[in-house]
Amino acid sequence: MTAESVVLIGLPGAVTGEMVDHLSGAISAGSVDGVRRVEVLGIDVVSDPQAGKEWRLGKVVWLDGTNATLAQRADGSDERALADLRARSLRQLTTAADLIVSVEDHSPATVANKVVVGLNDPATTSRARILTETVAFDDGRSYPIHIGRGAIRLLPEVLPERAERVAVISQAAVGLDIETGRDQRVFLLAPGETSKRLESVGDLASAMARWGMTRADAVVSVGGGVVSDVAGFVAASYHRGIPVVHVSTTLLGQVDAAIGGKTGVNLPEGKNLLGAFWQPAGVICEIEALETLPAREFRSGMGELAKYHFIGGGELDRLALVDRVAAAARIKADVVSGDEREGGRRAILNYGHTLAHALETAGSYDLRHGEAVGIGLVYAAELAHRMGRIDRARVDEHRRVVTHYGLSTELPAGYDFGRLVALFRRDKKALDGTTFVLDGPHGVEVVSVDDDELLTDVLEAMAGHSG
Ligand SMILES: NC(=O)c1ccc[n+]([C@@H]2O[C@H](COP(=O)([O-])OP(=O)(O)OC[C@H]3O[C@@H](n4cnc5c(N)ncnc54)[C@H](O)[C@@H]3O)[C@@H](O)[C@H]2O)c1
Repeated sequence: MTAESVVLIGLPGAVTGEMVDHLSGAISAGSVDGVRRVEVLGIDVVSDPQAGKEWRLGKVVWLDGTNATLAQRADGSDERALADLRARSLRQLTTAADLIVSVEDHSPATVANKVVVGLNDPATTSRARILTETVAFDDGRSYPIHIGRGAIRLLPEVLPERAERVAVISQAAVGLDIETGRDQRVFLLAPGETSKRLESVGDLASAMARWGMTRADAVVSVGGGVVSDVAGFVAASYHRGIPVVHVSTTLLGQVDAAIGGKTGVNLPEGKNLLGAFWQPAGVICEIEALETLPAREFRSGMGELAKYHFIGGGELDRLALVDRVAAAARIKADVVSGDEREGGRRAILNYGHTLAHALETAGSYDLRHGEAVGIGLVYAAELAHRMGRIDRARVDEHRRVVTHYGLSTELPAGYDFGRLVALFRRDKKALDGTTFVLDGPHGVEVVSVDDDELLTDVLEAMAGHSG
């Protein structure tokens, strides 16, 4: 494999001989500069450690379709097996793909043509691309979000000039080399949600004080939401507030936690109960870091990404990962810019979260946040449909997107529906009665749903309904 190859890869049923023939014909005719041959790889290569990374030297094109279509095309594959395979290969496919082309409803010749057009567009296949989005408030404050492979190199310029010392707060698993260009010290948090507690804030602040950090100095968080929440809170309170830059290394962090200035820790009495709004000086979404993220963490981030399809993102699954993260970051940046402290529109970012939070609180089940959000999105869509706000096709679109991201659309067995409905009422958005963020003719908005029977009915209908 060389940089002169285009590498076609996909789940069973996606790549066909006819497609490859069309594409090979076009490539031999010189239709893509610098590309000489077409290679087709089996899906196993992505998860086979023996296969190495050589296959990624070429331009990687992921041909994709819905599980239902692919199952039809690949004789003998059933949809459930494809869903499992998708979930297992998702991180590698997503992080490797330079271009994603849908085979849905297209002839082999059209698919080949779309691949050629995509490969000729440097905006989609340049791996070194760094995209920048901005959070800008009415009072003139603003900060950049840099997204891309190697975006980390922009860290020194995002850091405030006067910061002489930089406390880099991270976790051992992250393993990203950080060069701030200042006097820096690394402080590691233990892995897991349990380090998101007040004691961590005290320990870090004491260590920073012993080192002699002043109010001119700065904090850099390097990690996922746990690290940015804790480090952000330390920065918000040390000397009553010093600058912080978030280098986000999880998908959930990049599309959500690192942007918007919410920081804080959990108390024994509840999650995120103690915190502050503290906007960062900048955010860096290092796409390369996602390659070492545990597969389940990656998939969990996909749950948050799925939500952006329905709050203005459109068909994000058709975009390469860097564009996808940038599109989500742009939506979050726009919403936060207009509603810094969640007085109104920012609530739409909680799409899918009312059931998700209830599942997380009620369950002794091991559901990651994004997995719960995936189920919550489908529930919100089914509920909106029952209320006459959206049609069946839109509900199906929710199921398609959630499934596409390797997530379940099924309510796990064993939940007490009465308990879930009671928890809906306690959701923090619900100032009075039960409110949901629901899709509808005017897009996604906050809606009051004080009908426990309906809420229970929809839960019952979803239990055991596989998507
Ligand atoms: N502030 C906000 O607006 C906001 C929004 C959403 C979520 N959150 C918070 O975010 C937290 C969840 O964040 P998360 O999903 O990023 O989980 P996380 O921060 O716990 O990270 C998941 C795991 O991946 C590891 N990890 C991180 N980057 C890695 C990398 N590049 N390679 C290998 N391993 C890596 C971490 O050490 C950790 O074990 C929750 O506490 C949640 O409350 C905050």
